[in-house]
Amino acid sequence: MDKRLPEGVQTLPGVAIWETVFSVAPLVLVGTREQDGAYDLAPKHLAFPMSWEGHFGFVCTPRHGTYQNCQREGVFTVSYPRASQVVITSLTASPRCGIDSGAETAKPIVAAVPTFPAQRVDGELVRDAYLFLECEVDRIIDGFGDNSLICGRIVVAHAAERAIRHEDVDDQDVIAGAPLLVYVSPGRYARIETTNSFPFPKDMAH
Ligand SMILES: Cc1cc2nc3c(=O)[nH]c(=O)nc-3n(C[C@H](O)[C@H](O)[C@H](O)COP(=O)(O)O)c2cc1C
Repeated sequence: MDKRLPEGVQTLPGVAIWETVFSVAPLVLVGTREQDGAYDLAPKHLAFPMSWEGHFGFVCTPRHGTYQNCQREGVFTVSYPRASQVVITSLTASPRCGIDSGAETAKPIVAAVPTFPAQRVDGELVRDAYLFLECEVDRIIDGFGDNSLICGRIVVAHAAERAIRHEDVDDQDVIAGAPLLVYVSPGRYARIETTNSFPFPKDMAH
């Protein structure tokens, strides 16, 4: 068998795949409670539903406050910010202040983000985001290199009314009325307001 790569394709050096080629990802704000009782927010793009039965996971290093807070408190929140919130979303990744910048030190910018209390878990959700999840930690799986998978169960979800699909409203109009924010990794983002119906095959099994 001829195992040559097709013309125009090259093997990438090392494992820096995701730094070398663009890919799309969601961008969410994970909220947790810090040891001192304050609330933390941190952006995550490796964050996704893990089933259709209410599992939600995200990838996080144990060095981050978010990981340690999830481990200690057993709950976290997820807010899906709107495209107009990209700056505040980014600012929540500002460095912690303190002697050693460890997880026990403060991230003052978080206090400037407008939030409202979660209903069923001890946490805060980001005001003006469009989808909100309140989660209990189900399991934490360490050992993906330097990273871990934090998997939660969604206890309750909320959504902005204008982001909710309706039988009598075209899906495209819902998205145009509440544009989506995507992270174009590495280092870019996009606002999605125009989409097309996916060309599913006829009689596809769901
Ligand atoms: C756009 C963007 C995406 C990010 N995605 C992730 C991610 O998927 N996983 C992760 O562990 N850190 C991610 N980070 C980095 C953390 O959110 C950041 O280091 C944060 O300050 C950690 O805060 P914490 O100590 O409060 O958890 C991302 C940062 C940005 C700006």
